[in-house]
Amino acid sequence: MIKASAPGKIILVGEHFVVYNKPAIATAINLRAHVFVKKLEGDFKIKIYSKNLSKKAIFNMQSENKHSELYPIYYAAYKTMQEIGKIQPVEIIIDSQIPPASGMGSSAAVSVATVKAISSLLDVSLSKDKISKIAYEAEKIVHGRPSGIDNTISTYGGTIVYQKDKGFRFLNYDVKEAVFILVDTGIPRNTGLMVRKVRLLNDKYPEIMNLINITAEKLVLRFINAMEKNDLIQMGELFNINQGLLAAINVSNKKIEELIYAARNAGALGAKITGAGGGGYIIILTTKNKANEIMKVLRELSEHVFLVNIATEGVRLD
Ligand code: MEV
Repeated sequence: MIKASAPGKIILVGEHFVVYNKPAIATAINLRAHVFVKKLEGDFKIKIYSKNLSKKAIFNMQSENKHSELYPIYYAAYKTMQEIGKIQPVEIIIDSQIPPASGMGSSAAVSVATVKAISSLLDVSLSKDKISKIAYEAEKIVHGRPSGIDNTISTYGGTIVYQKDKGFRFLNYDVKEAVFILVDTGIPRNTGLMVRKVRLLNDKYPEIMNLINITAEKLVLRFINAMEKNDLIQMGELFNINQGLLAAINVSNKKIEELIYAARNAGALGAKITGAGGGGYIIILTTKNKANEIMKVLRELSEHVFLVNIATEGVRLD
């Protein structure tokens, strides 16, 4: 049996605008998707069991059930086999710590870890670039036309600034005084749906949306600058401006705004959606001495409130 894992992520700034080739900053977190694979005997099939979704499925050449929630995992595994040139019956077990539909990149982390596990099972060491590319193909099934940020951060780990046409570079960010808190809205989020909603606005109001997209780009550049100076006040202000832009493109809602205002009123430096919005999680920036007080207030409004631990490690064999 081979085991591989890959981290979830949070987007600090720039989500959605990254789909329009603007930069965004993402950081890997210490919640990981674990994937276990083993060879099976007999005819070709891929047996998948997801502990998190409590779902099982068997895929073979004839019965590709494209509507199954597990289909993207089959796809990632099968594409990996095609890439290597060995088609092998396998069993895949998924056990992920990343909450699904949270905006923390659970589907990308599962795909990335699946590609790594299957390639190792077939005795091939694929480059990170290749792993990320195959996972991106599976992500397209889940999310439509994703930017590629989720599979990239899940493969490489660390903190990156990512741009669709330019690729990514690592940011050497030392968290120091900054504390990030994640708060669940309790509303499941659907990235594909949110991305499509924003695309309709871009198609209908290109002259307005272009300016919003350019503003988002400038915001991310200022955020990098603020991070480099470890200027938490500016980082918080830029979080809040970014949230204003996300509300402008209609991916916020009443629950999200309620949590964000509760956090700001409790003394947070900044608060915003992280990921696609419409539900999922919000992210709060604060300092160590304020974190507990803010978390206490937010726990009255949400069942899941926790501190984020930033991770440096991307995909790996366990
Ligand atoms: C999803 O984690 C982030 C979005 O920007 C979509 C994408 O980048 O593909 C909303």
